Amino acid sequence: MFRSNELTVENEGIKYIETDLTGIKLLESAQLNKGTAFNNEERDEFYLKGLLPPAVETIDDQLQRAYRQYSLNIDDLQKNIFLNNLYNINETLFFRLISDHIKEMMPIIYTPTAGLAIQEYSNEFRRPRGIYIAYPDSDHVDEILDNRINPEIDLIVLTDSEQILGIGDQGVNGIGISVAKLVIYTIGAGVNPRRMLPIMIDVGTNNSKLLQDPLYLGWRHKRISRKEYDHFVSKVMEAIKKKFPGVFLQWEDFGKEKARCNLDHYQDKMCTFNDDIQGTGAVTMAAVLNASKLTRTKLSDHRVVIFGAGTAGCGIADRIQEWMVKDGLNPQEARSHFWLMDSKGLITEDRMNLDYFKATYARPSDETEHWDIRGKYISILDVVRNVKPTILIGTSTVPGAFTKEVVTTMASAVKRPIIFPLSNPLSLAEAIPQDILNWTNGMALVATGSPYNDVTINEKTIPVAQCNNAFIFPGLGLGIICAQAERVSSGMIDVSIDELSRSVNIQDDPHQRLLPQVSQMQEVSKNIAVAVAKKAVNEGIARISPGEDIEKLVNSNIWKPVYISYKRVDPPQAQVNQ
Ligand code: NAI
Repeated sequence: MFRSNELTVENEGIKYIETDLTGIKLLESAQLNKGTAFNNEERDEFYLKGLLPPAVETIDDQLQRAYRQYSLNIDDLQKNIFLNNLYNINETLFFRLISDHIKEMMPIIYTPTAGLAIQEYSNEFRRPRGIYIAYPDSDHVDEILDNRINPEIDLIVLTDSEQILGIGDQGVNGIGISVAKLVIYTIGAGVNPRRMLPIMIDVGTNNSKLLQDPLYLGWRHKRISRKEYDHFVSKVMEAIKKKFPGVFLQWEDFGKEKARCNLDHYQDKMCTFNDDIQGTGAVTMAAVLNASKLTRTKLSDHRVVIFGAGTAGCGIADRIQEWMVKDGLNPQEARSHFWLMDSKGLITEDRMNLDYFKATYARPSDETEHWDIRGKYISILDVVRNVKPTILIGTSTVPGAFTKEVVTTMASAVKRPIIFPLSNPLSLAEAIPQDILNWTNGMALVATGSPYNDVTINEKTIPVAQCNNAFIFPGLGLGIICAQAERVSSGMIDVSIDELSRSVNIQDDPHQRLLPQVSQMQEVSKNIAVAVAKKAVNEGIARISPGEDIEKLVNSNIWKPVYISYKRVDPPQAQVNQ
C-alpha cells in the first residue's frame, strides 16, 4: 500500500482530499481507491484513463457486486478472507459493505470467525496490515513506528497475542485481533480508520504447533522471560508515548497476568484501556443491570458465582463489585457476594500463590466445612447447591460446564436465574441458550458470548442477548478521542454502562432481550461517546474546552464510508516515490 501525501480540506462545506498519488498507485492505495467509481474527470486528472473498465459506477453498484461475491463464499473463513481482501483493495467499500450488513457480517469479521482466521493467518496470509514489532527489533522501535502509513494516530490496539479469544497463544497470527477490533471501532462508532494503528508485539510463542509449522510467519522462538518482556513493553510504550502523546491505547488479548499488570502499570501514565478486563466487565454489568430491573432485585441482593476466574471473569467481578458499592455496600461486604472458581476449584483463602486480582475474592477457608459436598472436590454443582446463586457467569472455556443438573439446581432456589455462558467460540460455551431455557421452562435470563438465534419455548419466542464488548469499546473510544481525554477513568466506563443499559427499554415483557441488537450498535455507540466525552470534561481530564458543544463534536468526528472528491497536488520533491 502506498503512503499518500494528502490533506483533507473543507472549503465552504465541501470536503475533498488533496493527494499526490496518481495512476496505478492511486488504485493500489486501499484508502483512496474508488475503483470503478472514479468519474471521468477524476480518470483524466489522475492518469487513470484506460486503467479501469469504461463503466463509471456508484458505490451502490459496487456494493451489489461485492455482496454477490461475498455470498459466493460458502464457509465463514472464506467470507472473512474475502472481506479482508476487500479491505486491502478499497477501504471505503469494505466499511460500507459491513455497515450495510452489520448483523450478518459482524460475526464474520470479528468474533467468532476472527478466531478461526487468526489460527489460519500464516497459511492464508496475503498482505500485511498494521505494525509488527518483534523482540529482535527492540532497538528499532522508533524506526518501525515511522514506517506506518498514516501520519496522525488517535487510537492503537496492541496485542501480544498470548490469549486470543478463548483459543490461546497464537503468536504473530494475533495481529488479526488488533485489525478486527479496529474495524469494529469504525463500524460501531465511526472512528476514522485512517487515524488508527494495529500493533502486534511479537515476543515469541509457546504454541508448539506454530513453532513447528513451516509456514508460520512469526519470530520462531519461545515467549521471552518476564524480565525481558517487561523491559521490551516499556520500550515500546515509551516510543508510542513520544510519537503519539495523546493517543488512546487499547490492550488486547494478553495473558491474564500480563493483561492485569500492564493495565495496572500504565493506566495512570497514559490514556489506556483493556477491553478483555474492563470492556467485558462493562457489557456484562449492563446486562446484569437490566436483568435486575426485570427481576426487580437490588444489585446488592445478588449472589454471584463466576466460573472461570481469568481476565474476563475477574474483570466482570470487579465491575459488579464496584456497582454494589455504589448501591450502598462497603467494598468488603460487596466482595462477600462473590464465589469465584478457576481450574483448581473454588478460590479460598488457603490457596497458595493466588494472583493478586483473584485473592481479593478468596472465600474464608472454613466456609465450606458445613457445605453439602457430594464428591472428592468442590464442583460447580456443589457451589451452586450451597451458595444458591442468583447470577451464574461462565468465562472458563469449559464446554458444557453448566449441565442440566447445575442449571436446574440453581433454578430450584431462584425464580429467575441469571445465567451468562460467555465463553467463546461456540464450541467452548458453558451451555447453549436453548438448553438453559428448556431446563428452566423459559424462566432463566440468558446472555451469551457468541451470537445465538432466538429460542422458542412453549410457543413463546425468547431473544438471547449477546454480551458483545462491541457495545462498549467503540463508543467509549470515540468519546475519548473527541474529548482528547488524558486518561480512561472508572467514571467514563460507568457512564458507558449506564447508556448501554438504558438503550434497552425494560418494560413488563418478562423475556426482554437484556442488551440491544447488533443493528443498534451505531446509535448506542454515539450516545456512549457523548456521555463519555461529557464525563471526561466534568472530571477535568479532557483536553478540549469545557464550553465545547459535545454532541456536535461527536457528530463531526463520525467517519462515514462515502466517496469524497480528490484534487491532485504535486508530490514534495524529497518524498517522490515514497
Ligand atoms: P483466561 O484464560 O484469562 O481465563 C479462563 C479461566 O477459566 C481461568 O481462570 C481458568 O483457571 C478457568 N478455568 C479453566 N478450566 C476451568 C475449570 N475446569 N473449572 C473452572 N475454571 C476453569 O481467559 P479469558 O480471557 O478470561 O476468556 C475466557 C472466556 O471468556 C473465553 O472463551 C473468551 O472468549 C470469553 N470472553 C467472552 C467475552 C464476552 O462475552 N463479552 C469477553 C471476553 C472473554
